[in-house]
Amino acid sequence: MVVKPAPASLPLPALAARPEHVAIIMDGNGRWAQAHAQSRSEGHRAGAQAIRPVIERLGEHGVGVLTLFGFSTENWGRPRTEVETILKLGAEFIDTYTDELDERGVRLQHLGDPERLPGWLRRRVQKAVDRTAGNDTMVVNLAFNYGGRADILQAVQRLVAEGARPEQITEEAIAARLTTAGLPDVDLLIRTGGERRVSNFLVWQATYAELYFTDVYWPDFDALQVDRALEEFSRRSRRFGLVPSDSVEDHGTAG
Ligand code: FPP
Repeated sequence: MVVKPAPASLPLPALAARPEHVAIIMDGNGRWAQAHAQSRSEGHRAGAQAIRPVIERLGEHGVGVLTLFGFSTENWGRPRTEVETILKLGAEFIDTYTDELDERGVRLQHLGDPERLPGWLRRRVQKAVDRTAGNDTMVVNLAFNYGGRADILQAVQRLVAEGARPEQITEEAIAARLTTAGLPDVDLLIRTGGERRVSNFLVWQATYAELYFTDVYWPDFDALQVDRALEEFSRRSRRFGLVPSDSVEDHGTAG
């Protein structure tokens, strides 16, 4: 994989609030390719190359957790060659960047069911996860064969298999068995490529996430775009179902 050269350093904007956990639906690779008269595979390749600068910028902002939607449980329905391309790019990404990410203190984790992934990808993912397990500067979750509902379902199934009684099936007990156990909920969910959907991503974990949609195609999402998303986040008023602290009369119910 060709490593994009580091861009000339962009001054870091001061933010009033910073998300702890950012999740990204990297959409628009296909349309980016079409706009550049390239194949969908080239679009995904450009998409994979866009990841490193985004990790770097989020790291500069001090974001602790980044979750990237690389391949959903629904993506198996795409043409076989495209599925292979995306999975191979996942493996290439790990081959190309694990050393550097490890040196920078990034802990790589995998979200999703590894069983259906081809052995060559599963082994690479596992190796990168094991290798970086002791790092604590930033967590980068690669969601491969991930589905939000499947995540909740397996958590509940595990609880039942452990013999939990109905009253023991609590939100905390479920959260502790999701693939994101131990990580903070998503604060900011970014979707590139113009669609305004959550698409079965971290449906439990993003319940109170601020949603940020941009028309920018994923391969064009760079450090400047990261700054824009974080600046927008810092302007949002997060209420978590409560009323603003300076408001005595508020008849709204939504959070
Ligand atoms: C959505 O674009 C993108 C994907 C389904 C795959 C994302 C994969 C990568 C960025 C490369 C490998 C991933 C990692 C984590 C290294 P789309 O194909 O739906 O675009 P379109 O909507 O324009 O057709």
